[in-house]
Amino acid sequence: MDLPVIRFRGARKSYPMAGETVQALRGVDVDIHAGEFVAIMGPSGSGKSTLMHIAGLLDSLSDGRYELEGEDVSAISRRNRADIRNRKIGFIFQSFNLLSRCSAVENVELPMLYHRPAIADWRERAMQALRSVGMESRAAHLPTQLSGGQQQRVAIARALVNRPALILADEPTGNLDSRTGREIMDLLKSLNADGITLILVTHDPEVGQAAHRRIRLRDGMIEADEVN
Ligand SMILES: Nc1ncnc2c1ncn2[C@@H]1O[C@H](COP(=O)(O)OP(=O)(O)OP(=O)(O)O)[C@@H](O)[C@H]1O
Ligand SMILES: [Mg+2]
Repeated sequence: MDLPVIRFRGARKSYPMAGETVQALRGVDVDIHAGEFVAIMGPSGSGKSTLMHIAGLLDSLSDGRYELEGEDVSAISRRNRADIRNRKIGFIFQSFNLLSRCSAVENVELPMLYHRPAIADWRERAMQALRSVGMESRAAHLPTQLSGGQQQRVAIARALVNRPALILADEPTGNLDSRTGREIMDLLKSLNADGITLILVTHDPEVGQAAHRRIRLRDGMIEADEVN
């Protein structure tokens, strides 16, 4: 079998809280391979976002091992984490997380500002990413001038602009009506069909069924891992 994109072994995360410790992940072992489309499901507080933040190098484990494309990233510095995240991972949030004072195209350009080596044709690349999500005609709009579904498309363009191998999405349809949510899911599915590994958190059984594999968390542990 080829090397997994993501490998967790004995992954633990605890948060110190007012003299106590919250154990958000309590020993997670999982491999996710290139090209997979995985849904992370489970009750509120089961550790889904925690797992996604760590997978996305927004946070690090308290204990255990995380390998990203075969590289041990468990104990690297914050700066290295940010650098690897920027090159390898696109992140999509429930609340879009666009900068409100920046236009759509400026939001899409943001990840390229941190890219080393610098990207010369950044405006063209941002426009290309907007085109790929059907938002080229809204490039100059501010986020407040866009619908929720359009904002999420811009956020997806931003996630794509550095051409990551891996997209992580935490409840990407959670703030959208069901029809718009389906459109966003179709877009994410087409990215996966083009070869991008896709991992998304969802409470929605319909979205879960669209995935090829469902990992269910409970109390910070994997309760079930089912493949279609
Ligand atoms: N920054 C933090 N500080 C302290 N505790 C935290 C922090 N983030 C998460 N937790 C705790 O860790 C546990 C897992 O939280 P997490 O956000 O991963 O759950 P979730 O499965 O994403 O839930 P939801 O479906 O509600 O989004 C919860 O008990 C939560 O209170
Ligand atoms: Mg969550």
